[in-house]
Amino acid sequence: MNQTVNQIPPYRWAKRARDSVAPEGGTTSGGDLIELGGGFDFPDALPDIVSEAMAAAELRSETLQYGPLYGLNDLRDAVAEYLRQDGIAATRENILVVNGAKHGLDLACRVFLEPEDPVIVAAPTYLMAAKILRHAEASFVSIPQDEEGMDTEVLRDRLQARQDAGESMPKLLYDMPDFHNPTGIPMSAVRRRRLVDLATQYDFVIIEDDPYRRIRFEGEAVPPIKAFDESGRVIGLGTISKILAPGLRIGWVNADPAIVRRIAAHKSDGGSCPLLQRIVVQLLRNRKMDQHVATLISLLRVHRNAMIDAIHEHLPDTLVRVPNGGYFLWVRLPPGIDADELVRRAAKEGVSIISGRLCFAEEPPGSFLRLAYSFSTPADIVEGVKRLGRAYASIRSELETSINRIVRS
Ligand SMILES: Cc1ncc(COP(=O)(O)O)c(C=O)c1O
Repeated sequence: MNQTVNQIPPYRWAKRARDSVAPEGGTTSGGDLIELGGGFDFPDALPDIVSEAMAAAELRSETLQYGPLYGLNDLRDAVAEYLRQDGIAATRENILVVNGAKHGLDLACRVFLEPEDPVIVAAPTYLMAAKILRHAEASFVSIPQDEEGMDTEVLRDRLQARQDAGESMPKLLYDMPDFHNPTGIPMSAVRRRRLVDLATQYDFVIIEDDPYRRIRFEGEAVPPIKAFDESGRVIGLGTISKILAPGLRIGWVNADPAIVRRIAAHKSDGGSCPLLQRIVVQLLRNRKMDQHVATLISLLRVHRNAMIDAIHEHLPDTLVRVPNGGYFLWVRLPPGIDADELVRRAAKEGVSIISGRLCFAEEPPGSFLRLAYSFSTPADIVEGVKRLGRAYASIRSELETSINRIVRS
């Protein structure tokens, strides 16, 4: 029976839910639209997990039963080992398995934030993180980035000014030091260390979200912020979404056991899916994940290059940053070109993109686009940017016409 009724009751929503209605979807745009918006994995490269899934299904009493709240010990151990490769001193007690990094952030907000508590974010930042923080009713302290990542001196000045003025001090800082989403900027080692010092000085906790660290095309890695943390002030969020498959919904929180235990108490799902966790354990143990990452790097490098070339050809006068890894390109539009309008016209031309406006927790300092090269094939990327170029050209010519009219009058 159809459940739609003629008139819905005047539901008494919680304040935080009054204005939030999620659109259907959450998948790629589909149809004839070329997807250059969402950070989806490249479909042709999704791993074959049939043998691991069959083996996991054999372990019925583990994988079909309620699992342990903190996650399978084998997975916690495997994640700790994975993190130790990056110089992080993690053991099982530091790891809580969650349903993806976003879930980890949501839980961290739950245990740290009261409504209106200020949270430090980069400007721009990951659009879903901004959304999760808004749902936690946080207020924002947005700090600009330069080529070394979040500007720690601006941060210090802002924190000192707040302290001097007796304003409430941020409890949390959220950032992505490796191949930042959306800018692709890697934070320098100096800044990472400086952030940890500032966290100690001004008493806040750093949430380091690090999904793209392994998707590196060029250059040398620097240690994660967590590797500089000697006092338990950094919470690491990890995920297999960008290095295996987002559909598995497995991620982790890596933190001091005191934080892990507190967050686990608020993880109300009774434990993440043990079947999926067992599959991931096997993919880590049999090194399929490492092979998969190597394949992804070589494929996505080609995607990135195709997109950069196409942007140079079809989006004149824009500024694009060439990232050494990750999934995204960040494009600055010239003055007068509105990103939201470009998104609308691009959809009409048959390409889905993301307005940079969504990537700012507060007012954007200009007009930007976030483009993802992860999902579409190089041929579709080129065609998609060509379509985007048509939308861009139409706005530019209208802009020029109106400027000429003003100049003549
Ligand atoms: C910075 C960042 N964190 C987290 C995620 C998503 O992680 P998960 O799928 O594990 O929730 C993304 C996906 O785009 C991301 O860019």
